[in-house]
Amino acid sequence: MKHVPETITITDNRTGQQVEVPIVNGAVDAKAWSKLLPGVWFLDPSFGSTAATESAITELDGEAGILRYRGYPIEQLAEKSSYLEVAYLLIHGELPTSAEFEQWRYDIIHHTFIHENVRKRFMEGFHYDAHPMGILVSSAAALSTFYPEAKDIQDPANLDRQIVRLIAKMPTLAAGAHRFSVGMPFVYPDNSLDFTANFLSMMWKIAEPRYDANPVLARALDVLFILHADHEQNCSTTAMRTVGSAHADPYSATAAAAAALYGPRHGGANEAVLKMLTEIGSVDNVAAFVESVKAGHGRLQGFGHRVYKNFDPRATIIKKTADEVFEVTGKNPLLDIALKLEEVALADDYFISRKLYPNVDFYSGLIYQAMGFPLNMFTVLFAIPRTAGWLAHYKELLEQDSRISRPRQTYIGAPVRDYTPLTER
Ligand code: CMC
Repeated sequence: MKHVPETITITDNRTGQQVEVPIVNGAVDAKAWSKLLPGVWFLDPSFGSTAATESAITELDGEAGILRYRGYPIEQLAEKSSYLEVAYLLIHGELPTSAEFEQWRYDIIHHTFIHENVRKRFMEGFHYDAHPMGILVSSAAALSTFYPEAKDIQDPANLDRQIVRLIAKMPTLAAGAHRFSVGMPFVYPDNSLDFTANFLSMMWKIAEPRYDANPVLARALDVLFILHADHEQNCSTTAMRTVGSAHADPYSATAAAAAALYGPRHGGANEAVLKMLTEIGSVDNVAAFVESVKAGHGRLQGFGHRVYKNFDPRATIIKKTADEVFEVTGKNPLLDIALKLEEVALADDYFISRKLYPNVDFYSGLIYQAMGFPLNMFTVLFAIPRTAGWLAHYKELLEQDSRISRPRQTYIGAPVRDYTPLTER
């Protein structure tokens, strides 16, 4: 953690008054600031210069390309750990002992079933062509009505039970949403399988008594889950913390976070990348496409990041994972277009000067597609692991006894005016 034992002195030129504001951990304390200038706010609509919280979960240094969960480098976790272990780490702050992990694994595996009415009344009530992400958002919210005790968020044991339920049930909801959207029967969880293999079984099983996923593909998906498990104060986590700060139950808050993830600028980008690559259609069209982006016609999907300005460490790991997957599935035909696009963009001053590099979504979609996932499942595949991160932030927020999120605004509307009756307008 950065320590800057410094202060800045701010002068109010209207009064000549000065105040010394401490900089702690690289941040100016807004309370000290507001003492000097009551009623004067920072105008920072996208939080570009605002730290919304202190957090001990994920450390991210965009300039250095560093991503660590609870201090552990993402590269080590992706190589040596599993998604379930990482989920434990995020939620509980430490890696589990063997006994703790066995209990955690057992608990998650034994909470994967959903109430029959979640499936029959909610999930199967959607229109036949409903987007699985829309189904997931709504079903996560619906779970809150099945577990009304979840509202008692101040009871730590009760909260932990809801956390286990949510992490466990998201793959079941996700696979159920897919099966429904393609008219296939729902597959019940198989408690003999690990987390990711179980999800793949619920996705792909047809008539066989047990579906055993290809271990290379199951491991690759697990690595992708690790990479997507948390990313500090991104848009969906901010939604989670904002809704959580009002003390909404964890299911409702998770649904809100998932709704934010649904957007194409956030978790929807991997879907957008595949659409873009398909639209480009051939390596020969790459240069013209890049020119059209530079001319302001849309964005290069999967490029750029609010925080990473040199490279996205997740993208580096994903590229390696992609090679392993393609050895099993055969190369995704869009890969050559993606590689060419990356090459052309990284050599172009437009992208260099703006520090635009491939982000996590640039290659993840190619992997998902090679594994057989339809396009509309890509964001769902992001939501499953991010649930652990959202819940870690939700838990942290409650432990911090945070005040309700309630920003100020700068009013720019009409000045006061008198109402005129409808007939006189
Ligand atoms: N293609 C072309 N130009 C871009 C792109 C892009 N992908 N991203 C940013 N720019 C340009 C932008 O036009 C602007 O140029 P100028 O200064 O001339 O106006 C400059 O770069 C800065 O852009 P910005 O909009 O201020 O950057 P931001 O930090 O607000 O946006 C972003 C970050 C990720 C929303 C954006 O880079 C983007 O839209 N990327 C494409 C979508 C995408 O891949 N999203 C996934 C993000 S990673 C997964 C996740 O964590 O959710």
